[in-house]
Amino acid sequence: MGKDKTRSVFKPVELEPSLIAADFARIGEEVQSVVDAGAHLLHLDVMDGLFVPNFTMGPSMVAAVKRVAPELVLDVHLMIYAPELHIDSFIDAGADEITFHIEATEHVEEALRHIKKRGCAAGLALRPVSGAGLIERLLPLADKILVMTVEPGFGGQAFMPKMLEKVRQVRSLAQTMGCNIDVQVDGGINAKTGKECVVAGANRLVAGTYFFSHSDRRSCI
Ligand code: DX5
Ligand code: ZN
Repeated sequence: MGKDKTRSVFKPVELEPSLIAADFARIGEEVQSVVDAGAHLLHLDVMDGLFVPNFTMGPSMVAAVKRVAPELVLDVHLMIYAPELHIDSFIDAGADEITFHIEATEHVEEALRHIKKRGCAAGLALRPVSGAGLIERLLPLADKILVMTVEPGFGGQAFMPKMLEKVRQVRSLAQTMGCNIDVQVDGGINAKTGKECVVAGANRLVAGTYFFSHSDRRSCI
């Protein structure tokens, strides 16, 4: 039939606002604006100042967001070393999905299993330098692969077009192995780069700056 096998044909495409780009002085209103815009996912970036050179938020922020908007699916992206030590605190605070970096721990399999055992979706993230081959044997344990399309640490950076090839590779590996996972991209996503990522095989688009600086947030979603 000449079908493009790299397309994400199995899952709906969703845009997921990243709270890192919100106004932290008005965090409750900003979270409410995500609900009002029609999103059902919210991305929360957790940074430890070591795995990445920045700090953001901890479990208390996740709990506060959950109180404001219990209807949102909270997708917590851990950019911290030894994520296995903190998974339970974030799940107890209200995380629905936990994604951690393959480069941040030697206990990747145990951490993926633990997240799922606690009833959350488990994601594995790849820094730009990490190749798609690294996740091959782990794919059956993961619900989602996050391909970073910027160097993790800061919002507002430019999308790295070279990462499109990695998105294609991850989607194609998943299809070959029969794993119906989500492929997520994060960093520099806007209307143009988001479209390119979807064509390459992504179905989850994280957008911080694009969403929170848009004059019509509903139209973004
Ligand atoms: C980067 C974070 C991203 C990023 C998204 O380390 O994981 O979530 O801040 O922000 P934008 O969309 O502004 O690149
Ligand atoms: Zn993120």
